Amino acid sequence: MADLTTKRKWDRAAKNFDFMAAKGPEERWAGCKKALFSHMQGKVLFLAVGTGLDIPNFPPGQDITGIDISSRMLEKAKPRAATYEGKLELLEMDVHDMPFADDSFDQIYTSCTFCSVPNPVKGLESLKRVLKPGGELRMFEHTGSQYFPFNVMMHIMTPLSRKIGPDMNRDTVENVQLAGFEVIEVGNIFLDVVKTIYAKKPR
Ligand SMILES: C[S@@+](CC[C@H](N)C(=O)[O-])C[C@H]1O[C@@H](n2cnc3c(N)ncnc32)[C@H](O)[C@@H]1O
Repeated sequence: MADLTTKRKWDRAAKNFDFMAAKGPEERWAGCKKALFSHMQGKVLFLAVGTGLDIPNFPPGQDITGIDISSRMLEKAKPRAATYEGKLELLEMDVHDMPFADDSFDQIYTSCTFCSVPNPVKGLESLKRVLKPGGELRMFEHTGSQYFPFNVMMHIMTPLSRKIGPDMNRDTVENVQLAGFEVIEVGNIFLDVVKTIYAKKPR
């Protein structure tokens, strides 16, 4: 059953999400995201499509299933999805409760997602279930920092930021490993906070 607390939180955030994200962060990271998404091939699952700000960075001609727990976020994503030159299906779905068969996808992408999914290791385990053996998980994520004073600031900010949106202090690389993926490469995009993570489901 869908997690209604999380769904409602992100439904509330949908109204101002583009205003908060579109100008600064999205423009800043668009090049890195485009490079990450350029690896798309085969049957692709995109977790947490949000309002669709990532869609203009998708390479054309792909077969993508985009899911998100929030119907309000997805409403905003629809016009962006309509401009995509390829197959892009949007579905309202909780990553913890996906009806896809085991080993359904060749690749899975996430973008600023595992700061938000309430139970990150369980969410990542769900992704592993629907990914084919040897399949790729490619992520663009902001994480907690190891370094003072950022680590302390992020721990202090998280109880507040969590009420309206993401956790600031997650160790997503460790969570990917705990979920049973093999981490192939981690790229530090900004300090040790904004990262790309490339992992595989073991065969
Ligand atoms: C910070 S937003 C990122 C949206 C988009 N990827 C972007 O970068 O613009 C986090 C997204 O995760 C979604 N989300 C949170 N928990 C989820 C879950 N359990 N299952 C599916 N989506 C979830 C939220 O609805 C929200 O759209």
